[in-house]
Amino acid sequence: MEVSDPLEMMRKEFNTYITPKGWEDKMETLEDWKKFYESTVKDKEAMEKWWESWAEKIPWFKKWTKVLDDSNPPFYRWFVGGETNLAYLCTDWQINQGRKNKVAIIWEGEPVEERNEPKEVRKLTYYDLFRESNRIAYALKEKLGVNKGEIVTLYLPMIPELPLFMLAVQRIGAAHSIVFSGFSAEALAVRVMDAKARIIVTADGVWRRGKQLNLKNIVDEAIKICEREGHKVEKVIVVKRLGISIPWTEGRDVWYHDFLADVPKNTFVSCEPRGSEDYSYILYTSGTTGKPKGAQHSVGGYAVYLYATTKMIFDIRDDDIYWCTADIGWVTGHSYIVYGPLMHGATIIMYEGALDYPDPSRWASMIERYGVTIFYTAPTAIRMLMKFPEDIYLKHDTSTLRIAHSVGEPINPEAWRWYFRVFGKEKTCSSSTWWMTETGGMLSGHYPGRGKILPLKPGTNGPIFPGITCAVVDDDGNPVPPGTRGYFVITSPWPGMLMTLWQSPQRYIDVYYGKYKHKGWWYYTGDFAMLDQDGWIWVIGRADDVIKVAGHRIGTAEVESAMIKHPAVAESACVGKSDPLKGEIPLIYVTLKKGYEPSEDMRQELKKHLRATIGPVVASDAVITFVDILPKTRSGKIMRRLLRAVAEGKPLGDVTTLESEIAVEEAKKAYEMVKAALEAGPTSSS
Ligand code: WT7
Repeated sequence: MEVSDPLEMMRKEFNTYITPKGWEDKMETLEDWKKFYESTVKDKEAMEKWWESWAEKIPWFKKWTKVLDDSNPPFYRWFVGGETNLAYLCTDWQINQGRKNKVAIIWEGEPVEERNEPKEVRKLTYYDLFRESNRIAYALKEKLGVNKGEIVTLYLPMIPELPLFMLAVQRIGAAHSIVFSGFSAEALAVRVMDAKARIIVTADGVWRRGKQLNLKNIVDEAIKICEREGHKVEKVIVVKRLGISIPWTEGRDVWYHDFLADVPKNTFVSCEPRGSEDYSYILYTSGTTGKPKGAQHSVGGYAVYLYATTKMIFDIRDDDIYWCTADIGWVTGHSYIVYGPLMHGATIIMYEGALDYPDPSRWASMIERYGVTIFYTAPTAIRMLMKFPEDIYLKHDTSTLRIAHSVGEPINPEAWRWYFRVFGKEKTCSSSTWWMTETGGMLSGHYPGRGKILPLKPGTNGPIFPGITCAVVDDDGNPVPPGTRGYFVITSPWPGMLMTLWQSPQRYIDVYYGKYKHKGWWYYTGDFAMLDQDGWIWVIGRADDVIKVAGHRIGTAEVESAMIKHPAVAESACVGKSDPLKGEIPLIYVTLKKGYEPSEDMRQELKKHLRATIGPVVASDAVITFVDILPKTRSGKIMRRLLRAVAEGKPLGDVTTLESEIAVEEAKKAYEMVKAALEAGPTSSS
């Protein structure tokens, strides 16, 4: 299928200014916005004043003495001297404000009964969160000796016990490392070992698209890998979600309900005051090397940033029903299912399963069932829903929606329009909020929290958040004119930023601050973007060897190192290929070792291998193509741009200018060879 040039599609929308219905008297002029924004960034003092005004809105055990210590960049320290605790902000503080009996979480399990009504719904009040997380906190501390700063790995699906454990871990001043429950045993093992975690919390399984998935099996396999590498996992706490039969190791494994059985209901563990600069969690994300990076987030700066962005971008209020459809295993869920919304005392929806189970109207029916007012989802999901006739959604009343944003990848204007019209009834404030695992929270969007909004534009990421400056620049760091593609950089620090990469401070400097060293401390996002005439951001996609498959971030190097672990694979190269549904899909070129022949069976086997080593997210969308040789430059580098060009059906001309090392004749030959392999279909070689 032809995919149109995203740049062209975006440029066409630069001048589309949409006023959503019902907001007519709340529209903000571009001039007023600019004035306001300028007032928050005009100098260092103004920036600090802006962030301080947000810090003053949340409680601290100890007030900060300095808003920003930038004496040792890029290791910025926010709210220095301050002490607070994320669990305190999300539970104790809410109860103190009178929200004790307010519903905090409405959880829906995947299975349905007649008329598609959910079989299981659990509602937890703020008091429930408080009590249960206190009990867990007590048990972790007293029974397992979990200490301040220790990292506990959470490999849990979308069930309420996941936020409960997060809050418990925060309460005692420990930190979590959540591993998305769709990751494979190997991916889990790597993350457990890197964090030196001795405790894993998991569930027996989870419902996924009508099937029961066994998670404990995966954990056991991961532990075997850890043991082979000399790392001991001491305890596995297992939540009984399904009641299926699972492997069990006496002494090491304990059921969650047994773990808490003798802990009284009214157990109270006071929140450990944490320095603003302590770490609250690490979350692994993909980069351009094979090894995932642990983005390390702070306590105070992170809290302030989430408090501010949740208010400004979601305009969250006490009577809202808030639903972010992400999995808590990704940063979106950390920041905007759990910490941001709970800090505001919101009522949030958590859903266990697949968006199209038992049919694609599931989300629309849930929005109707609970009267959801704020909705946050991913472009791939929207594009997936778009494939079905509209009336299946129109049967459900989604008119309660007030805000409906997206995140994770660029949203094509067509998908934006569909979302705005079919779900939003043309009356939602809808923005594509840009951010990354490393940024902690949203850095761009629309800001209804100001009581007024800017006009909407289909596909834009909107203006940068107040108090932060950014630029779109060329390779040398010079700004490019509006409408021109360049690298997206953030030119000032912000409180939600990662503090460092877990135990890799040098890698932190190199990856994010290496590219524009000569310009100062600019945070390099790794994204291509454009600015429009209003200074709004339009992120186009990744500029590095990272691909986004259905919004999930995958390093091509990770895929490649997984592939060559298979005994039949000699070499492999992975590139992203545009896809109308998933944004991008991984296209994997493979050369086989002597004695192995390309075949459909081999392709299936490699897919299975990929599923086991990286996980289903990559494996299910990957296209594997066999080639005789991988085209390389003289210095032995695989010609990725060439591979990508062939995949995208782009002419070779673009490639030779990019890969200066290639002789034209050689490149031509390689291009034709790869093209033939692709055209011949996935099973044949050359
Ligand atoms: C990358 C970060 C932040 C939550 C989920 C993703 C892409 C993210 C947008 C958007 C265009 C976007 C970027 C970014 N991205 N949001 N609204 N428009 N692109 O976090 O997995 O760390 O991925 O996602 O390429 O660098 P992540």
